[in-house]
Amino acid sequence: SRRHQVDETLSSFRLSQEQLKLVKARMRAGLEAGLKTKGHSAIKMLPSFVYHTPDGTEHGKYLALDLGGTNFRAMLVNFRKGLQQNTRLYHKIYTIPLEIMQGTGEELFDHLAQCVSDFLDYMGMKNARLPAGFTFSFPCEQTAIDTGTLVSWTKGFKATDCEGHDVVNMLREAIKRRNDFELDIAAVVNDTVGTMMSCAYEDPQCEIGMIAGTGTNVCYMEEVKNIEKTEQKKEKTDEDKGTPDEEQDKADAEMLKMCINTEWGGLGDDGSLDDIITPYDTEVDQNSVNPGKQRFEKLTSGMYLGEVVRHVLLDLTRGSLLFRGHVTEALKTRDIFQTKYLSQIESDRLALLQIRSILQQLGLEGNCDDSIIVKEVCGAVSRRAAQLCGAGMAAVVDKIRENRGLDHLDITVGVDGALYKLHPHFSGILKETAKVMAPQCNVTFLPSEEGSGKGAALITAVVRKMQEM
Ligand code: BG6
Ligand code: GLC
Repeated sequence: SRRHQVDETLSSFRLSQEQLKLVKARMRAGLEAGLKTKGHSAIKMLPSFVYHTPDGTEHGKYLALDLGGTNFRAMLVNFRKGLQQNTRLYHKIYTIPLEIMQGTGEELFDHLAQCVSDFLDYMGMKNARLPAGFTFSFPCEQTAIDTGTLVSWTKGFKATDCEGHDVVNMLREAIKRRNDFELDIAAVVNDTVGTMMSCAYEDPQCEIGMIAGTGTNVCYMEEVKNIEKTEQKKEKTDEDKGTPDEEQDKADAEMLKMCINTEWGGLGDDGSLDDIITPYDTEVDQNSVNPGKQRFEKLTSGMYLGEVVRHVLLDLTRGSLLFRGHVTEALKTRDIFQTKYLSQIESDRLALLQIRSILQQLGLEGNCDDSIIVKEVCGAVSRRAAQLCGAGMAAVVDKIRENRGLDHLDITVGVDGALYKLHPHFSGILKETAKVMAPQCNVTFLPSEEGSGKGAALITAVVRKMQEM
């Protein structure tokens, strides 16, 4: 029967507890491998050179620039000492047109500089030469807090001549080319790191940052001694020998942990997820700008979930199980199902008639039975995404717990991204799965309020404070 055939198709998205445990174990192994090896591991584990979460003494005015999934945000943050509730924030959002995402690097960074120039005009601060933090939501190999070499584009970006280059330099050069304002870019951070810092300002237990949006990623505070691929703490140099031991000890104690940008979206790039990847996932991967890369991300994030759904719908329609067997142009159109539609379709408050009208808007004519099936497909795909992220998170929190030799760990995860914030079920399933998969940890998910830019500003404040000392 039709029911039976639909169920069978959707069963390939169902994950047993055993399979989720395997995913957790592979994530754990991936984290460990990435900490040991430089390059060539599926999970990159990139050092961020951020050693602490904020302590509340940050103060001053900072500019934060935030290149996320589809938007660029410029914001001015004013931290007032001891007045956490009174942080002032002004911001403006700029879209990044597709032709700029996929044009030349120079065009992309000229566009960013143009947006900053517009924002400074808007604020009336063209001549302020503000200290700035740059949130750049792509994998960067860092050797210091203010340099980052783009390893590879993800999430559909493919601007030329950027990979292998320092993105801070590229932004500085673009600003120089304009020659109408100056900026002092003090830090570049991944969006996960910015999110963690921003949430840690409110909750000191926050030592993990997560994005579930256009892409998916996690960062967390790791013990410096476990980061084998970076140089171990320097032998005392002659210069250091002058400083009293007490001060040196204090400096060392302050650098015991470092935030690591895991880039966990790369799990599976070495084939380790092949047993759970469905033919629909393979299609999505093959049609992407980076086939074979970011396999975990392609199972779990907003940019791809709609495409997975569309491929299932295509298959069901070809098998005459949906839309009376009519494969329409709309159904053949890439990216018609954005996260916001998945979120709407899966909302339990929505009547079938409303689902039908959403589908109609997308150019998909169906009856009520079709609507039920579409909703089930969306549910199967998003549930799997949330479970996979939950299993991954279980690996991260258990690692932190073991690092500290604890039987029980209470920890907070700062989270951002449209999938987490807008989808009706994703966050609940994520939380539940993490709980079941890591029973010795009590994980609180804290949605970030003002995005990761505030975190980048906080990091800039910390860097400034250290420079002043
Ligand atoms: C924003 C953060 O709010 O969320 C960005 O400020 C981040 O840094 C983004 O990249 C992720 O969400 P999405 O859904 O836009 O990919
Ligand atoms: C992609 C990027 C990563 C980012 C994530 C969320 O996975 O590679 O750097 O954190 O998307 O935006």
